[in-house]
Amino acid sequence: MNLSRRGLLVLAAGAVLRAEDRPKRDMLSRSVRPEDLEMPLSGFSDYLTPVEHFFVRTHVYVPNVNVAEWRLRVEGEVATPLTLTLEDVKRLPAVELVSVVECAGNGRGFYEPSVPGLQWANGAVANARWRGARLSDVLKRAGVHDSARAILFDGSDVPLLAMPDFQRSIPLKKALDANTLLAYEMNGEPLPVKHGFPLRVVAPGWASDSWVKWLTSIRVLNQEHDGFWMKSAYRHPGKPVAPGTAVPPEQMQPVTSLRVKNVIAAPLDGSQAALGAPLAIRGVAWSGDAGPVTSVEVSVDGGRNWKSAALRAGQKTQFGWRQWEFNWTPPQEAYYTILARARDAAGNTQPLDQEWNPSGYGWNVVPRVGLSVVKQVSGGSQPEDSVGATTPPSGFANACHVCHDDDVIRQQRLNRAQWDRELTKMSGWGAKITDQDRAAFLDYLFGTFGPRPRGR
Ligand code: HEC
Repeated sequence: MNLSRRGLLVLAAGAVLRAEDRPKRDMLSRSVRPEDLEMPLSGFSDYLTPVEHFFVRTHVYVPNVNVAEWRLRVEGEVATPLTLTLEDVKRLPAVELVSVVECAGNGRGFYEPSVPGLQWANGAVANARWRGARLSDVLKRAGVHDSARAILFDGSDVPLLAMPDFQRSIPLKKALDANTLLAYEMNGEPLPVKHGFPLRVVAPGWASDSWVKWLTSIRVLNQEHDGFWMKSAYRHPGKPVAPGTAVPPEQMQPVTSLRVKNVIAAPLDGSQAALGAPLAIRGVAWSGDAGPVTSVEVSVDGGRNWKSAALRAGQKTQFGWRQWEFNWTPPQEAYYTILARARDAAGNTQPLDQEWNPSGYGWNVVPRVGLSVVKQVSGGSQPEDSVGATTPPSGFANACHVCHDDDVIRQQRLNRAQWDRELTKMSGWGAKITDQDRAAFLDYLFGTFGPRPRGR
C-alpha cells in the first residue's frame, strides 16, 4: 500500500460515523476512531452476546468490502495455490461452535503500574455461536508441504500512514485443529462489518489477536511470521517479571491461549444491598484451550470460606462461557468482600494476585467486589475517574489527531519514560513531531496523564 493512498484513506475514513454504525448507548468507548468499544457489565447477563453489545476492537478503520470482488487467496508452502469466492468457502462442510472471543488486553486498565494501550476493564470479551468452514479443509485442498510450520492471515484492512500492516500467524497445529474455523456467520447472521465481514478467523480458546477479520489471504509459512504484530506486539514474558520491568520483545513469546477467568457481574463493586433481602451474586466464567470451566466457588468473607456456585445448565462447551449464580442472604449489617474463583477441566484456577506483564495481557486474577449491607439503601454513586486537564501545547492537535482522537491519549496513565516511548512509536508511524515540540508534548502528556495514585 503506497503512502499517498494510505493518506487519502486516513482522511476519507475520518468522517463522522453513520447512524446505523452507532453502538448501543451503554457501550464504553475506549477510542472513537479507530473504533474500540467495550461491553458494560450488564452484557454478562446474556449467554450469547447480541451484536449491539459485542465489543469492537479495531487497530485501523473498518475496510469497505465488495463481496462480489472479494477473494480468499491461499498460497505459500502449498501444492496448489487457491483463489476462493465466498460461495466456494460456504460449499465446504459447515461447522458450528460456541466460543468466547476475548481481547488479549482485556483488563489492562487494572494493571499497576499502568501500561500503555487501550484501558479495557472487563468487557473486551463476548460469547457467540460461530459458523464456518474448517481452516484444515481449506488447507487440505491446497495441499500443505511438509515444510509448513505456521499459517499467516491478512485482512483487507489498510494500515494508517507508516503503521505496519496487521498480519498474524498461528502455528500449524492450531490451524489444523478441527475447531479452528473460517467463519462467515456470528449468532446465526452473516458476520457484521465491524466483526470481519465477510470472513474471519475463529481460533477458539485463543486471544482475539489471532482471530483476523476481513480475511483475504492465507499464506502457509515455513516459520512463524516475522512482522511487527508477531515479533513486537502481542508478546508475554511467559513467567512472572517484576512490575514495571521493560522486557525486550525477543525475550517474550506470542500470546496464545486464554487463561481460566471469571467476572462478577452483580452486585456492582461499591454498591449497597438491603439487610434481610436474598441476593443473587452472578457472573460468567471461561477458559482457553483447557476449557470448559468445571466449577466456580464464591467467598463472601474475603477468601476465608468458599462455597460452590451453581453453573447454569446446558452451557458446558469447551470454549464458550458459563454463567454462574450464588444465592445468599447477608446475615448482618456490614461491608462484605465478595470473591469468585473458577477452575477449568485441566484443574487450573485463577490466581489471587495478578502477575504483571509489560503490555497488560491475560488479566485473570480472582475478581472482588465490595458490598455494603445496610438497613436502608440510599442512592449513592461511584467516584468518577477524573483527569486533570491542562491545555495542550500548540501543534499537539495537528500532530496527534490525524489518525485518532484525544480519548486514546487521555485514558493512559504513564510515566515519563513510557510517554517518551509512545512519542517514538507514533512518530515512527507517521506523526509529525518536531524536535522543539517534542519536549513540550512530553511535559504535557506526563503532567496531565501521569501514573494514577496507588490503591484505588
Ligand atoms: C499515523 C497515525 C497516527 C498518528 C499521527 C498518531 N497516532 Fe497514536 N496511534 C495510532 C494508532 C493507529 C493507534 C492504535 C494502535 C492499536 O490499536 O494498536 C494509536 C494509539 C495511540 C496510543 C495508545 C497506546 C498504544 O500504543 O496503542 C497513544 C497513547 C497514542 N496513540 C498517542 C499519540 C500521540 C501523543 C500522538 C501525537 C504525537 C499520536 N498518537 C499520533 C496512530 C497514530
